[in-house]
Amino acid sequence: MSSQNEIRRLTAPDILARKSGEPIVCLTSYHAHTARIVDAYCDVILVGDSLGMVMHGLETTIPVTLDMMILQGHAVMRGSKRALVVVDLPFGCYEASKEQAFASAARVMKETGCGAVKLEGGRRMAETIAFLAERGVPVMGHVGLTPQAINTIGSFRAQGRDEADWPPIEADARAVADAGAFAVVLEAIAEPLGRRITAQIAIPTIGIGASVACDGQILVLEDMLGLSPRVPKFVKRFGELRPSIEQAIRNYAQEVRTRRFPGSDHVYPMRSAAKAGLARLAGRGGGPQRP
Ligand code: KIV
Repeated sequence: MSSQNEIRRLTAPDILARKSGEPIVCLTSYHAHTARIVDAYCDVILVGDSLGMVMHGLETTIPVTLDMMILQGHAVMRGSKRALVVVDLPFGCYEASKEQAFASAARVMKETGCGAVKLEGGRRMAETIAFLAERGVPVMGHVGLTPQAINTIGSFRAQGRDEADWPPIEADARAVADAGAFAVVLEAIAEPLGRRITAQIAIPTIGIGASVACDGQILVLEDMLGLSPRVPKFVKRFGELRPSIEQAIRNYAQEVRTRRFPGSDHVYPMRSAAKAGLARLAGRGGGPQRP
């Protein structure tokens, strides 16, 4: 089959093949312009349902809809060329049955062009993961802390900090791998457990508050850039963008109020005035100017 694209996008099998290899670099993105930047450095871009909290100021991811995910997934696909784009299936659009999950995943893949979906849950989702994988939908699993379960677990706290709590989490990760997922996110689990699961299962583990031993790492972009007001312990701020954004907005507001912006460089003169300016410049040996 021929393709017009010069840059080949990474696929779910490419990511699966990276088990125990070079670390897999993943970040979230919800917009075309951030996707363009992330795409240059990352293997996987996750359009996470965290967009409900980050973009929309929601308290949890529960109200996020499939339409919201599709809109932002499409934007991220337009902004990226190389990374595998994975779109989260939001709460309520996949848990009822494997058929419901397939219908939602198929809509996401058709309408965004993304290469895979992510869903939360271990053993309880194994049958669904197998059903999707057998029908052409690459699935990234997500176990440990699963934010869509907030109303049953009660808080966003780390999991598996007592060894007695390990067996169900390990069983969840194994079930996801055995069902045919190509990778699994391990969120907010005790470090030795992240290490142990990574050694136990045959698919790449993508850690977020798990272990440096995971096959890859992911963070929410706005958290690591210093834009989110509150962040979990596992977030390292690789940038502090908030003060520079605030400064730029403060400067803009001040220049608008004092009528210093827009200046002559940022407005369109009449054509006759522009031509006269060019002729004057040409007379002085100046070349053509950018319109
Ligand atoms: O929604 C999201 O951004 C996620 C990551 C935190 C893994 O699921």
